[in-house]
Amino acid sequence: MKIKKINIAIDGHSSCGKSTLAKQLSNHFKYTYVDTGAMYRAVCLYALKNDIMKDGIIDKKALTDSLKYINVSFNYNDVSSVSETFLNGVNVENEIRSLWISENVSKISKLKEVRLKMVAIQKEIGKNKGVVMDGRDIGSVVFPNAELKLFITASVNERTRRRSLELKDASLEDIMKNLQSRDHEDSTRDENPLVIMDDAIQIDNTNLSIEEQFNLALSYCQKAMAD
Ligand code: DC
Repeated sequence: MKIKKINIAIDGHSSCGKSTLAKQLSNHFKYTYVDTGAMYRAVCLYALKNDIMKDGIIDKKALTDSLKYINVSFNYNDVSSVSETFLNGVNVENEIRSLWISENVSKISKLKEVRLKMVAIQKEIGKNKGVVMDGRDIGSVVFPNAELKLFITASVNERTRRRSLELKDASLEDIMKNLQSRDHEDSTRDENPLVIMDDAIQIDNTNLSIEEQFNLALSYCQKAMAD
């Protein structure tokens, strides 16, 4: 049996383990992994640090003008086995995961100009296949012809619990509020909202272990790769 090189699109709600699964699959198949949320987070960090975004208000013209100076890239760290995000050559992997960025990023990721630039980069990365990409609009906009589309979700209580293990200083209430508001923003925005595509396979991992989810996804991948 011939094995096809494919693109794997993983979409879903915030903090439901999409990137954990995407990393496992990319390691398993030696595919390129792209965390598109990290790209929007890096743009958000740039906007906050350069006073383009202040108190939740964005200077849209300044941001649009700055887009050409914002370079987001990924480097694989062999020591930690993690793909790390770089903003204009500086490692921002830790900074972009803070609640400060989580609270501001939805306003950045809903802007048309920002999305146009990010989506163009993402499409380019995927043109030779062999990519696992996670985000909100991968199966709908970035790779509408992806051979495999997964839509991942989990209950908001479980997502809050998992996120709180990473964000030790934040209260459960703040984390849950942030998740709910991002779910709402992601699903209701005008530009590339989060939708479940008809051809996507849904996985609710509320009661699945990381390994169980991986094995399930692996079986879908193997099916999609079979010629
Ligand atoms: O997956 P994440 O939480 O790191 O994503 C950060 C934000 O970026 C989130 O609020 C949704 C948004 N996002 C998006 O709009 N489109 C994507 N393809 C990926 C993320």
